[in-house]
Amino acid sequence: MNLHVVILAAGQGTRMRSALPKVLHPVAGKPMLEHVIDSARALAPAGIHVVIGHGAEKVRETLDAADLNWVLQSEQLGTGHAVAQALPHVNGADQVLVLYGDVPLLTVETLKSLIEQTPVDSLGMLTVLLGDPTGYGRILRNAEGQVQAIVEQKDASPEQLQIREGNTGIMLLPGSRIQAWLTGLSNNNAQGEYYLTDVVELAVSQAVEVSVVQASDELEVMGANNRQQLSVLERAWQAREAERLMVQGASLADPARLDVRGVVSIGRDIRIDVNVVLEGRVVIEDDVTIEAHCVIRDSVIKAGSVIKAFSHLEGAEVGENCDVGPYARLRPGTVLQRKAKVGNFVETKKTVVGAGSKINHLSYVGDAEVGEGANIGAGTITCNYDGVNKFVTRIGDGAFIGSNTALVAPVSVGRMATTAAGSTITQDVPEATLGVGRARQRNVEGWKRPVKQPKD
Ligand code: UD1
Ligand code: CA
Repeated sequence: MNLHVVILAAGQGTRMRSALPKVLHPVAGKPMLEHVIDSARALAPAGIHVVIGHGAEKVRETLDAADLNWVLQSEQLGTGHAVAQALPHVNGADQVLVLYGDVPLLTVETLKSLIEQTPVDSLGMLTVLLGDPTGYGRILRNAEGQVQAIVEQKDASPEQLQIREGNTGIMLLPGSRIQAWLTGLSNNNAQGEYYLTDVVELAVSQAVEVSVVQASDELEVMGANNRQQLSVLERAWQAREAERLMVQGASLADPARLDVRGVVSIGRDIRIDVNVVLEGRVVIEDDVTIEAHCVIRDSVIKAGSVIKAFSHLEGAEVGENCDVGPYARLRPGTVLQRKAKVGNFVETKKTVVGAGSKINHLSYVGDAEVGEGANIGAGTITCNYDGVNKFVTRIGDGAFIGSNTALVAPVSVGRMATTAAGSTITQDVPEATLGVGRARQRNVEGWKRPVKQPKD
C-alpha cells in the first residue's frame, strides 16, 4: 500500500495576532505542525508533503528535514486548491491522507483506524459529534444515514446549521480519483474558495463508497485559530500526558499542575509535587521525589534521589540517592555521583561531584572535579573565568574547603587537604595539607568607638 500524506499549513492564522506563523505556535513546547508531522511519520508513508504559504520560509527553516517535501501554495485559494498543489508529488499513491497543520492532538491510533476502515478505492473521512458545531463544515446524510455531502458553515441553510456532526477536515482520498476530483473543483460558493470538502459530493455522484470514522474526542480533532483555543489544546495535551505518567507509576499531587514539554520517561513510585515543569528529554528513575516548583530540562535523575522545592536542573545527571535543593541550580554538564548533596543557593556547571560529597550552601562550582566524600563550605566560589578563558578546579577525595574560599583556577586541592575559611587559593594545596590564603587578624587594644559629634 502506497500512502502519501499531505499536510495543509499555508493559512495565515490572522486571529493569532502574531508575527509567528500559526502552525509554529507551540503546544507542549513543540510547534503544532511538528506534532502533525510526527504523527504522519508514525504511519511510515511513502511521502510527507507539507503545503506552506504564509510564513513559508520561516516554517520550512524551522522544521526542515530530509523526509519532508515542501510544497508552496503561493495564494490561499482554499483547502481543495491547497491539496491540488501537492498532486504532482503524489503520483502513484494508492491513498492520500490529508491532515491539518494546526490540529496537533490527533492521535496515530485514530489515523490508523481511519486507514484500516477505508477500502483503497473509497473515500474515508473523519467526522466528530460536536457540542457546538459553529464554524465547522456539516455532514449531510440521507434518510438511510449515508453521507451525501459536506456543507460549509457559510453556505449552510438554517436547517443544515442544526446538524451537530462536523467535518474534522481529515480525509483519506483514493489515489485513483484524486487527480480528477481536485482539478474539477469549482469556487462557486460563499467564500469563493476551492473546497476540499466538495469531493464528498463528487464521490457520491460517482458511486464511490464513502466511509466515515467518528472521532471519540472533540479536543483530539480541534484546531487552534487563536490563543484561547491554543491554551485549550495545551491543557488537553497536558492532561493526556499527566494521565500517561500516572498510569506508568507516578503520583502527581495535582495532574493539572504538571507541565511536560518534551519526552519524559519514568520508573515506578515517582512522586511529583505541584507546579513542576519537565522539558526536553527527561529520565526519572524509580523512587524519585520531585518537590514543588522545580524546572527540569534534559536531565537524568537516578533512583532514590530527591529534588527539593524550587530547584532548576538543565543538562544534569543526578546519581542514585542524591539530595538536591531546595533552590539549587544544576547547569549543563553537572554530574552528581551517588549520595552527593547540593543544597540551597548552589550553582554548579560542568562539574562532577563525587559520591557522598556535599556542597550544602551558597556556592558556585563550575568547571570542577570534586572527588568523593569532600565537603565544600558555604560561600565557596570557583573563579573559573579570567574574562577570556575558562580553567578547571580539582578537589581531591575527602578534602574540606572552608567557608568563603575563592578557588582561583587552574588550581587543585589534594586529597584530605583543607582550605582555611575566607582563603583565596591561587596555588595548589598538596594532599593532607592546610592551605591558608587570607590576611592575618590583628586585634587593636584600647581602640575606641567613634562618638556622636555635637551639632553646632
Ligand atoms: C475546514 C473545512 C471544514 C472543517 C474545518 C475543520 C473546507 C472547505 N472546510 O474549514 O469543513 O469543518 O476545516 O477545522 O475544507 N489551508 C491551506 N490553504 C488554503 C486554505 C487552507 O493550507 O488555501 C489550510 C489552513 O492553514 C488550515 C487548513 O487548511 O490548516 C484548514 O483551513 P481553514 O481555513 O482553517 O478551514 P476552515 O474554514 O476552518
Ligand atoms: Ca480552521
